Amino acid sequence: MQSEINDAGTDRGNSLHVAVIMDGNGRWAKARGLPRTAGHHAGVGALRLATEAAAKQGIKTLTVYAFSVDNWQRPEPEVTAIMGLLRHYLSHELSRLVETGIRLSVIGRRDRLDPKIRAAIQNAEHVTRDGRTLHLRVAIDYSARDAILAAINASNGQHISRGCLSKMIAADCATPDVDLLIRTSGEQRLSDFLLWECAYAELYFTETLWPDFDADDLANALDAYYRRNRRFGSLSPSGKAA
Ligand code: FPP
Repeated sequence: MQSEINDAGTDRGNSLHVAVIMDGNGRWAKARGLPRTAGHHAGVGALRLATEAAAKQGIKTLTVYAFSVDNWQRPEPEVTAIMGLLRHYLSHELSRLVETGIRLSVIGRRDRLDPKIRAAIQNAEHVTRDGRTLHLRVAIDYSARDAILAAINASNGQHISRGCLSKMIAADCATPDVDLLIRTSGEQRLSDFLLWECAYAELYFTETLWPDFDADDLANALDAYYRRNRRFGSLSPSGKAA
């Protein structure tokens, strides 16, 4: 039954690609006297809410930063906990994703992941492949610089166009540039996330810690986005020459 979210969808947000740097899990937990892993656990709940809210608000592509190549440097128990949450998410969230018409795919390296996680990713991508409401892309063991380098190396020294490189970086050939990048927790940096795809993204920073981020926060970010005047370096709102 895919209709619930489709029916609630609005024109607003249609075809938008929103990217989120989900930051502040550790501080959320610390403020409650909890271990950092409790913050990541709560972060998964926030991801569920944000995904469903994004679908309801008509967003077509949502890319979230779950684990960067640099996050391997965190203490081993924290890395293990995040990987455990990821594996749990990829198996227990599937029926919900299918019901709501959400297609899931994972970007980033897979060769350093536990084979069980690799298998869970493959299964999740297969099971949700027909979802048309929202494309949820989860970045795991991800680096934008590495993704750009890999695409350049794959071109074997041949001349490639911007469009071609975009497709090679996106891996699935159909992902539009990011329209709106949200980062939570008051930090204001890109942290090697979607550097190519964010060339003309509108940036939105909020003090809200990721586990507290909800549908209203997403609506506020979208409100801010729609108040922006996107000219893509041109003088007219469409980005075409005035
Ligand atoms: C940043 O907060 C968050 C992460 C590095 C991990 C993000 C992970 C999740 C939201 C949960 C796992 C996701 C899935 C799909 C299972 P931080 O730890 O850097 O917070 P801090 O800056 O307050 O320390």
